[in-house]
Amino acid sequence: MSQNHALRADSEHAATPAAALRRRVFQGYRWLLAGFLLAGVTQIFLAGLGVFSLQNQGLATQGDTAFAPHRSLGFAMGGIALLILVLALIARPDIRAMILSGVLVLLTAFTQSLLAGLADSHALYGALHALDGLLILAIAGYLYARAAQRGIGPRS
Ligand code: HEM
Repeated sequence: MSQNHALRADSEHAATPAAALRRRVFQGYRWLLAGFLLAGVTQIFLAGLGVFSLQNQGLATQGDTAFAPHRSLGFAMGGIALLILVLALIARPDIRAMILSGVLVLLTAFTQSLLAGLADSHALYGALHALDGLLILAIAGYLYARAAQRGIGPRS
C-alpha cells in the first residue's frame, strides 16, 4: 500500500463513529485523571490536618473524627480510579495506560484500606500507607502526562 493510501485509510478509520466515541471517552479519561490528581493533593493535605488535629489528644475517638474527611475522600478516590479504568478500557490509549489504570484501582481502592487497617497493629503499615499514597499520585501523574502529550485522542 502506498503512503497516500495508508494515510487515507487512517483518516477514514478515524472518522468512524466508534473512533469518534473513543476520542471523546479519551478526553473524559484525561479530565478524570486531572481530577484524581487534585483529589490526591487534597488527600495529603487532609492527612496532615488529621495528624495535627490529633496532637496532644491521642484518643481513638478523636482520631475517627479527625480523619473522617481523609477517609471519605480516600473511598471516593477508589471510585474515581475505577471509573478511570473503565474509560481507559473503552478509549484504549495503549496497553501500558490500561495496565497502570488497573494498578491504580488496586492501590487506591484495596491496598490503602488494607494498610490503614493493618496499621492498627503495627505503625510500619501506616508508613507504607503514606508511601503508597505517593506511588498512587506518581502513577496518576504519569498517566496524565502521557494522555496530555497524546493530545486529542488515542491511536486509531
Ligand atoms: C493518595 C493518597 C491517599 C489515599 C488514596 C488514602 C486513602 C485512605 C483511605 C481509603 C483510608 C480509610 C481506610 C479504611 O478505613 O478502610 C485512609 C485512612 C488513613 N490514612 Fe490515608 N490515603 C492517602 C494518603 C495518606 C497519607 C499521605 C497519609 C499520611 C500520614 C495518610 C494517613 C492515613 C491515616 C492515619 C488513616 C487512618 C485513619 C483512621 O484510622 O481513621 N493517608 N486513607
